[in-house]
Amino acid sequence: MVNTEIMRIDNLKIDRAREISNNIKGIFLLEKFLGGFEGKHILDIGCGTGIDSTAYILDIGCGTGIDTTAVGREYYPYIAKIISRRGGIVYGFDMGFINKSKSDLERFRKETGVIPIPGVIEHIDEILEGKQFDSIISSSVMGYPTKNLDWIETMKKLYPSTKLDGYHHHFKLRGEIVNIDRTSLEEMGFNVLSDFRENNGLGSALVLHKEYNA
Ligand SMILES: C[S@@+](CC[C@H](N)C(=O)[O-])C[C@H]1O[C@@H](n2cnc3c(N)ncnc32)[C@H](O)[C@@H]1O
Repeated sequence: MVNTEIMRIDNLKIDRAREISNNIKGIFLLEKFLGGFEGKHILDIGCGTGIDSTAYILDIGCGTGIDTTAVGREYYPYIAKIISRRGGIVYGFDMGFINKSKSDLERFRKETGVIPIPGVIEHIDEILEGKQFDSIISSSVMGYPTKNLDWIETMKKLYPSTKLDGYHHHFKLRGEIVNIDRTSLEEMGFNVLSDFRENNGLGSALVLHKEYNA
């Protein structure tokens, strides 16, 4: 590999690490909004199903033991695990769980502290059966690889699953394109606290609040 290519890959890794660290910062902000994660019910949509944390392809080395990684073709549920470690009751919803064995799902739960829910987002309302969450989050799901999903329809399904005074935090990486407009979200009853924006070119989040008077 020539030196310039090594530098390019290193720069890509640094950029990606910054983006991921923005996501984690956003999650800590969410923790503040919720008054702590302790005992709160959180749904992570497309959380990632990788449970073997040894094969890191990217370690952001933020000194907290938090790593972000894709294991083979499976993504590591780093955000769900952070929230679980901070006292949240976290449900990880992912289609990758559909083909897992019962023992794989148990191992996932034991290793991450996250309760796996197999299913496809298209049928999320049927699967959740009216359960409500203090917070619904996703990272790198709205833009990729689910870009063909109708997110307005999906958010309409998720609105009733959001508790009053609950929050959403949806993170996207740079380059991921999300077709979701602010007006439709407001018409549903969400207060849009932060829209997706390429502020520093390093990814962004959509932050929503379902207010008491919604
Ligand atoms: C790019 S990965 C992101 C994983 C993790 N949230 C992260 O930030 O590293 C996208 C995840 O969404 C899941 N996913 C994609 N489309 C889905 C769908 N239609 N229904 C359920 N899960 C889906 C995939 O299985 C995968 O684990």
